[in-house]
Amino acid sequence: MKLKISSLKKLVTDSMAIDLGTASTIIAVKGRGVVLDEPSLIAVNEITEEIVAFGQEAADMSGREGRDITVKAPLIGGVVADFERTKKMLAYFVKKAKTGGSNLSLQAVMSMVSDVTHVEQRALLHAAEEAGIGKVFMMEEGLAAAFGAGVLPNDKRASAIIDIGAGTTNIAIVAKGSVVHSTSERFGSNEINDVLATHLRRHRGLQVGAETTELLKTTFASAYLPDDIGKTTEVRGRDVTTGSPAAVEITTGEVYPIVESIVRRIAQTAKDTLTELRPEVAADIYDRGVILTGGGALLDGVDQYIRSFINLPVGISEEPRYATVNGLVKMFDDPKLLEKVTRNELGVLQNAEIPFEA
Ligand SMILES: Nc1ncnc2c1ncn2[C@@H]1O[C@H](COP(=O)(O)OP(=O)(O)OP(=O)(O)O)[C@@H](O)[C@H]1O
Ligand SMILES: [Mg+2]
Repeated sequence: MKLKISSLKKLVTDSMAIDLGTASTIIAVKGRGVVLDEPSLIAVNEITEEIVAFGQEAADMSGREGRDITVKAPLIGGVVADFERTKKMLAYFVKKAKTGGSNLSLQAVMSMVSDVTHVEQRALLHAAEEAGIGKVFMMEEGLAAAFGAGVLPNDKRASAIIDIGAGTTNIAIVAKGSVVHSTSERFGSNEINDVLATHLRRHRGLQVGAETTELLKTTFASAYLPDDIGKTTEVRGRDVTTGSPAAVEITTGEVYPIVESIVRRIAQTAKDTLTELRPEVAADIYDRGVILTGGGALLDGVDQYIRSFINLPVGISEEPRYATVNGLVKMFDDPKLLEKVTRNELGVLQNAEIPFEA
């Protein structure tokens, strides 16, 4: 069965780039771009422990699931919290993303947060292996995001990338195709949803679902003090005291300081990281400023906020949610670079190729 593997593999293999994020899993295939973008969620039947739905289908059940069904996120803060279920979810996504229903082995490049522990790294890799991916390369998320945001691998001067994900904020300083400095915090844009929900519960007596806070954040909240602080929107949920369905009016002026507390924390992390750089690197960043990637970069005015906080130019990458996966998929155009960026301390992972079986 192991005959002519390499030639066969070239013909039938999909080269997949996988960004397994806290909020979404995004898969791009070489030559086809993004082929899958679904929430990193599963719906579990609590009685049988069976997974009844994955991804978007599970998300659609969220908040209104049946009595025995719970919708769960198997990844927390960018890392595998529930190994068995992450593996199954990944296998589902990979199968869905494969071309022509081929069951043949493939190669994939995946990202991982920079401060991932050895145990977490292995869990992620095993999940990928057992999901039926042939050869898995792992690369640092910050580097992938940088390439995806347009940083060139041969650029000698340093670039700074702030990836604001759902569960992580990752700051990477990249030069000559490698990460020269990075910090990763296990909090991200989802924190905004949490503080909004807490505020509504404590101060307005309203319990709200995940869909409601997400909508409030993406369509009503901003990272700058709005001109009109009296603008209102209606938020619906469940009255904390009576338990009845209820609604409250909330203003932009009320929402702003809640959102700002989290954005400030993100900006502070960036500011701190930028004080830890060597002089030449600092000089490059002074000239160039920073690039924002990740879904959190889509919050209205977040670039403006960070710009005034760190006093440097701030830009948002094209397709910020896809920066990481776009960077990952670029690696297949340059095997030497792929080799380079997935080697070094990750050397162990290079030997993790599972036997090819047709
Ligand atoms: N228009 C928007 N405005 C504000 N926030 C947004 C918007 N769109 C998406 N987000 C937020 O971006 C986050 C998702 O970003 P992303 O897809 O980069 O995360 P992830 O890669 O899954 O997470 P992580 O990198 O932390 O593992 C969520 O918290 C989501 O609410
Ligand atoms: Mg991410």
